[in-house]
Amino acid sequence: VLIAAILALFAVSGCVPATEPMEQTTFPFDRRLPIPPLADSQVVDGTRVFQLDAQEGSSELVPGLQTPTWGFNGDVLGPTLRAEEGEQVAVEVRNSLSEPTTVHWHGMHLPAAMDGGPHQPVAPGGSWRPEWQIDQQAATLWYHPHPHGQTEKHVYRGLAGMFILDDARSRQLDLPKDYGEDDIPVIVQDKRFDSGGGLVQDSQGNELGLLGDTVLANGVAGAVQEVGTELVRLRLLNGSTARTYDFGFDDDRRFDQIATDGGLLAEPLQTTRVRLSPGERAEIVVPMVPGEQTMLTSFPPDLGDVLVPSAFGARDRFDVLLLRAADQLQTSPPLPVRLSDGAAGPVASEASVTRSFEVQDRQINGRSMDMNRIDAAPELGSTEIWEVTNTHGVPHNWHVHDVQFQVLDIDGAAPPPELRGRKDTVYLEPNRTYRLIMRFEDYADPDSPYMFHCHLLLHEDQGLMGQFVVTGPGQGGSGQGGDGHGQ
Ligand code: C2O
Ligand code: CU
Repeated sequence: VLIAAILALFAVSGCVPATEPMEQTTFPFDRRLPIPPLADSQVVDGTRVFQLDAQEGSSELVPGLQTPTWGFNGDVLGPTLRAEEGEQVAVEVRNSLSEPTTVHWHGMHLPAAMDGGPHQPVAPGGSWRPEWQIDQQAATLWYHPHPHGQTEKHVYRGLAGMFILDDARSRQLDLPKDYGEDDIPVIVQDKRFDSGGGLVQDSQGNELGLLGDTVLANGVAGAVQEVGTELVRLRLLNGSTARTYDFGFDDDRRFDQIATDGGLLAEPLQTTRVRLSPGERAEIVVPMVPGEQTMLTSFPPDLGDVLVPSAFGARDRFDVLLLRAADQLQTSPPLPVRLSDGAAGPVASEASVTRSFEVQDRQINGRSMDMNRIDAAPELGSTEIWEVTNTHGVPHNWHVHDVQFQVLDIDGAAPPPELRGRKDTVYLEPNRTYRLIMRFEDYADPDSPYMFHCHLLLHEDQGLMGQFVVTGPGQGGSGQGGDGHGQ
């Protein structure tokens, strides 16, 4: 009876045109949160080798409904890859889909030819084996397809997974770190279904792209995670195509944010909300008392001083994941006072080049993505400041491959504490200028571009993306060019 009721609800909600405010389909939160398995790997001659196979499948994303999906090594999403700073890793990627795809390592510092962007397509039936050394601190990264013009569709259908990095310090810190027990990966994505259970893959004219009316945690709606410890760590990934979330709990409890995209903050940050735009991650530690429950909730984000008609459905509230504490909880040690050296990145005086980027509709500095044009060519070892302004009256964000940057300031003011860590993606409130500082290290290859783009995937697909190459000494960069010139 319950399932029939849900199906009926579903059929109704599936018919609601996108121009009406969305209402969340309600579910009993009684499905165990699926924990993506840690990927198997083999160490061959000192290299840790993983395997990922992009394939078609079918999943029960909402109770009682089978949905055709895509996944890595399974029906939907993918296993969690995990490696240690200093390790040599390789991934044997296979494409069992019937169209080309790629696998990009979001947040990873690595040679551009291994980056998995639009220049490294894997043909149907084909394979690709990138290999690199992990050369960055502990962090929660992720991987997803990045095929030219098709990224939204491939991610929306379910291709995404986490890539967790450890280092000597993170292993020693007294943080919850028992994967799947008190250290929980949470991939949040919204979907919209037709009455037959298929994914609706049409943004229906929505300026932001695909916004679903159902929010999934690790590929299921209505998930519950049983908690057996006083502290539980959630590694939150916004793997959605377009939706920005302001995460908190339904009882407004305080929790600590301990990490941003690129690793641990200097110290835990007490808060009640964490905003994540598409592609961003945060690690939070939530206190629990015996026998209670609390709902991880996405509150309607205040996306800044911008007209976002409710038709965009960007201001809806969603239940995401129920945390349910056991009647007796294992003691957790208190959080360490110091977590890391913080961003400890370059300072403004080290920057030799400043570039300006204006985000306007589907263009950056008046240009759409062109696979044959290089938009910036920083020199190896140099530090640059990128001034990014979203002059479009619509939410966008900004992601840079290869580097973790720091937000120097926003309209000249120091960034809020949650934006002081290492970042690879940042939400761009309209009509503000974000000054980002980054250093281009280790890998120069004038023939292989990295990308920078909006991570609202429809925008990326429609051209809100540019390319940069890192040039070795003497290969000639594009100098002071605010908007960069090809070499
Ligand atoms: Cu997460 Cu260029 O991507
Ligand atoms: Cu955008």
